[in-house]
Amino acid sequence: MFLKSLICLFPWLILATTETSIAKAGCQDTCGNISIPNPFGVGEPHCYQQSGLQLVCNESFNPPKLLYGNIPLVSISLLNGTMTVGLGVSYYCYDRAGELSDWQTWTFTLNENYYFSDTRNKFTAIGCDTNAVMSDSFVEIFKSGCMSVCANERSVVEGSCSGIGCCQTAIPKGLKTLNVSLSSFYNHKHSWDFNPCSYAFFADSEQFNFSLPNLLNFTGMEPKIDNYISFPAVFDWVIGLETCEEAKRNWTSYACGDNTDCANYANGPGYRCQCNQGYEGNPYLIDGCQGNKYFASSFIGIMSPA
Ligand SMILES: *[C@@H]1O[C@H](CO)[C@@H](O)[C@H](O)[C@H]1NC(C)=O
Ligand SMILES: *[C@@H]1O[C@H](CO)[C@@H](O)[C@H](O)[C@H]1NC(C)=O
Ligand SMILES: *[C@@H]1O[C@H](CO)[C@@H](O)[C@H](O)[C@H]1NC(C)=O
Ligand SMILES: *[C@@H]1O[C@H](CO)[C@@H](O)[C@H](O)[C@H]1NC(C)=O
Ligand SMILES: *[C@@H]1O[C@H](CO)[C@@H](O)[C@H](O)[C@H]1NC(C)=O
Ligand SMILES: *[C@@H]1O[C@H](CO)[C@@H](O)[C@H](O)[C@H]1NC(C)=O
Ligand SMILES: *[C@@H]1O[C@H](CO)[C@@H](O)[C@H](O)[C@H]1NC(C)=O
Repeated sequence: MFLKSLICLFPWLILATTETSIAKAGCQDTCGNISIPNPFGVGEPHCYQQSGLQLVCNESFNPPKLLYGNIPLVSISLLNGTMTVGLGVSYYCYDRAGELSDWQTWTFTLNENYYFSDTRNKFTAIGCDTNAVMSDSFVEIFKSGCMSVCANERSVVEGSCSGIGCCQTAIPKGLKTLNVSLSSFYNHKHSWDFNPCSYAFFADSEQFNFSLPNLLNFTGMEPKIDNYISFPAVFDWVIGLETCEEAKRNWTSYACGDNTDCANYANGPGYRCQCNQGYEGNPYLIDGCQGNKYFASSFIGIMSPA
């Protein structure tokens, strides 16, 4: 008699999805529907890695507002090292007689953990009698900007911010302070019917789309700084001031967890953490970067003859 054996091989690929936290234990990890990943945090000092990364969740708003100072947040990206916020729009409005009737200008000063993202933001101005200027505030090291003059709305091309009714220019790398100011050539007297105001602001270029109604009354986009006209802009954020090499000399303050790499920020002081290849999660938590969770197991069955 032949001994017949049948060997069956059952490979099981089990995808285990364990819930990994993005915040430190005991720390609030959302505000409204916005995630608050470490190194950011609200509340107790042990919940954020540096004081500049402390945020406030104001629950008296519905939905609650996550704030950096008075600047409302939209989202935080650990992968990109960016933070999308609502930033104030500067504007000058004129009445029919050419008198300034309403205006608002903004200056911003970011702390050591933040930069205006030069890859995501464009300095943007809307208007048909508009000279828009950005500078660093307080100590003027540079001034730049764009202008737009148009005689009527017929020449305006919707969807394109190319100098007619709307203009845009790139912003410098490593910018931490900003002063946005405006002036006009004819006090909007020739364009008042279709464009009584000039507007200037930093816009996330992935979110700004110029359209004709913007000339008549630009209302921006949520979230707003208080009740001011605002528009989404993007900050780059870093762990403050040191380079990776400097930070690694003090393991108590070094922000990157296990299985991570440290990367210097290219445009100024500061560094960021990344999970090593094959790991994912939050690189700013000690055990935040976890290996890919695939468990291969097999079951071998042997059937002997009767
Ligand atoms: C949060 O809620 C707002 C308004 O309710 C919505 O527009 C936005 O897409 C939501 N964001 C996320 C990340 O779910
Ligand atoms: C929340 O916002 C309200 C309205 O602006 C303000 O009065 C209050 O002080 C804020 N609360 C906190 C905790 O900041
Ligand atoms: C990350 O950057 C890419 C490229 O700019 C962008 O399309 C994406 O929306 C960013 N992700 C987040 C969460 O901001
Ligand atoms: C902002 O720029 C305008 C025009 O250049 C200037 O008059 C104003 O003093 C500046 N504000 C600050 C705070 O630097
Ligand atoms: C911008 O407008 C154009 C044309 O009106 C449209 O095709 C495009 O999807 C818009 N983009 C965004 C980001 O809204
Ligand atoms: C622009 O529109 C907003 C919201 O619709 C309105 O409150 C405001 O009065 C308008 N401004 C002008 C100058 O028409
Ligand atoms: C290391 O960092 C900790 C926490 O920030 C700080 O208290 C300590 O003084 C630092 N040590 C040195 C040698 O700088």
